[in-house]
Amino acid sequence: MNIRRIIEMKGKEPITMITAYDYPSSRIASESGVDILLVGDSLGNVVLGYDSTVPVSMEEMLIHIKAVRRGAPEAFIVGDMPFLSYEISPEKAIENAGLMLKAGANSVKLEGGEEFAEIIRRIVSAGIPVMGHLGFTPQSINLLGGHRVQGKTAESRAKLLRDAKALEDAGCFSIVLELVTEEVAKEVTESVSIPTIGIGAGRYCDGQVLVFHDVVGLSQGEFKFVKKYADTYRIMLESVTQYKEDVKNRIFPSEKNIF
Ligand code: KIV
Repeated sequence: MNIRRIIEMKGKEPITMITAYDYPSSRIASESGVDILLVGDSLGNVVLGYDSTVPVSMEEMLIHIKAVRRGAPEAFIVGDMPFLSYEISPEKAIENAGLMLKAGANSVKLEGGEEFAEIIRRIVSAGIPVMGHLGFTPQSINLLGGHRVQGKTAESRAKLLRDAKALEDAGCFSIVLELVTEEVAKEVTESVSIPTIGIGAGRYCDGQVLVFHDVVGLSQGEFKFVKKYADTYRIMLESVTQYKEDVKNRIFPSEKNIF
């Protein structure tokens, strides 16, 4: 997979993207054949136990990008730029985006609309592909006041359309639309020539993305926009509980486990 192929898929074939945070999730995701692996800063909530993505650092992102690359040597990997790694100056943004590529990502993703167009332009001119992210932008949770579906008012719809155009003009190769009404996500998708990849943004985006742990049932929350394909949390809990019981009852190790 490469960005040219991703752009060509728009309107022809749904693009599949899933988050991966470590070596095993990366191996599973790449073996499944999904088109794009996203080392999302959602790793802050999902694997590091923070209550938002705001505390996630560049150092943490780089450790996880390296692990995901080791698990999927051939995959197209997007590295999420964490809070305050790109907002301060174009120079800082290029430096941090470059570190992500050196760690193994093929491109970076950053949150925000027209106000970040210049920074995106500068990152792209340094040879680094950028995926945009509009709609609900988790790094701005303190400003947005919670998980709110975007595009519900005329003002919000107009801003999304303006932002999408600005990101396309700045050189983004695709845009994530998170928690956007289906109608507005469709309108945004039809208004740009680059693919949109939705999460909680309905059926008309050019692709879909979900969090790995939500898909396999390792996370505990229930979200309307998620489809859970297995109950891995229960399977793991039962396995660990059974192991503990076996040791307590002197069932493990047994004859076949000894040397
Ligand atoms: O960090 C993440 O997992 C994301 C997805 C929700 C798109 O940005």
